[in-house]
Amino acid sequence: MDNFIFNAYTKVYFGKGEIENLPKEIHKYGTNVLLVYGGGSIKKNGIYNKALELLKDCNVIELPGVEPNPKIDSVRKGVTLCKEYKIDVILAIGGGSTIDCSKVIGAGAYYDGDAWDLVTNPEKITKVLPILTVVTIAATGSEMNKNAVISDPKTNEKLGTSSMLMIPQVSFLDPEYLYTLPAKQTAAGTADIMSHIFENYFKEEVGAFVQDKFAEGLLTTCIKYCPIALKDPTNYEARANLMWASTMALNGLVGAGKPGPWICHPIEHELSAFYDITHGIGLAILTPRWMRYILNDKTIDLFVRYARNVWNITEQDPFIASNMAIDKTEQFFIDCGIPMSLRELGIDETHFEEMAEKSVRIGGLEHAYVPLSKQDVLHILRKCL
Ligand code: NZQ
Ligand code: ZN
Repeated sequence: MDNFIFNAYTKVYFGKGEIENLPKEIHKYGTNVLLVYGGGSIKKNGIYNKALELLKDCNVIELPGVEPNPKIDSVRKGVTLCKEYKIDVILAIGGGSTIDCSKVIGAGAYYDGDAWDLVTNPEKITKVLPILTVVTIAATGSEMNKNAVISDPKTNEKLGTSSMLMIPQVSFLDPEYLYTLPAKQTAAGTADIMSHIFENYFKEEVGAFVQDKFAEGLLTTCIKYCPIALKDPTNYEARANLMWASTMALNGLVGAGKPGPWICHPIEHELSAFYDITHGIGLAILTPRWMRYILNDKTIDLFVRYARNVWNITEQDPFIASNMAIDKTEQFFIDCGIPMSLRELGIDETHFEEMAEKSVRIGGLEHAYVPLSKQDVLHILRKCL
């Protein structure tokens, strides 16, 4: 296990009705609030009205319309509002897109240049407005982590930035807020949670037994509860377990002491950058193809452990057992209703060369546990067609 810093300091209010604590938490930071949200789901399911009622003593300025795969122009609009209205605190209500956008807005409020600089140069983030979140989808874990992913459609770029200063102060996780999620977002969010775990699990064994056991527990949680949530969207137990798994999958816990590049994420970010697809769908398509590609004598022990501990596969032959586990992973995504080919998303080979080159360069894939070159990524992408 490598050395690491674990500092996920977000205060989490978990459970139904916990949003009642919002006013007392907001008031710790001030009364000028920037309320950031997406395309309107929070108005349909009542969370918006509830938040406004709770914030009646505050001066609430709104930034609606943050897109999935949030765009830099939304960040710029938010930064302008923060400066104009002397915002004290940002309240993000929504999913990873809204929360990520809010994080960079919070950093931009203290930065004089263009907010895109903060995406390409995280070291320029020196101060960030306090960020509170109300989570409405189980997926990214953004509510308790330091990351933000922002896109510039003009240049087909989708880049991650990161700063401890952007970790939200307080997050409200009410599983009932997930009841209105469409099946597609429930499934895509679960694929994203699982991918965050896979990215850390399939790394060189460095004796991080605790982390790997956390990982296996979270994976089995997703496998158990996603089908229940899809069948019965208002099943509290299923929503609660997916929601907490999502937060735990990417708050530093599973990846602590396991350094090294992620693989499917940088490749997926290229797919989203060029085609604006749903992040979790791209990951679900890539994951089994990537797994098959990196299964070899060096990785076999990891895959056998995955087969035994996550899928309860008892087959003795290591390669047969590993392939069974990969097939089960793929079948799980199919059963969740995820389209499992790029063609179904309208994606062909047109940009593959550029996407492969960029993902290797930006993601540092040549330094991965199983190093991937541009040609390797091209191969994986073609298998996804
Ligand atoms: O915009 P609205 O109308 O709110 O609708 C959203 C959106 O269309 C809808 N939705 C969310 N909650 C809902 C709901 N619809 C009905 N009822 C609800 N309760 O779901 C759609 C997707 O929302 P989004 O915020 O985009 O989803 P997600 O949380 O999956 O975020 C994806 C973004 O996060 C980035 C992704 O790349 C992508 O840009 N990521 C962020 C990470 C991080 N900060 O750590 C890590 C991830 O790996 C990921 O890259
Ligand atoms: Zn992700």
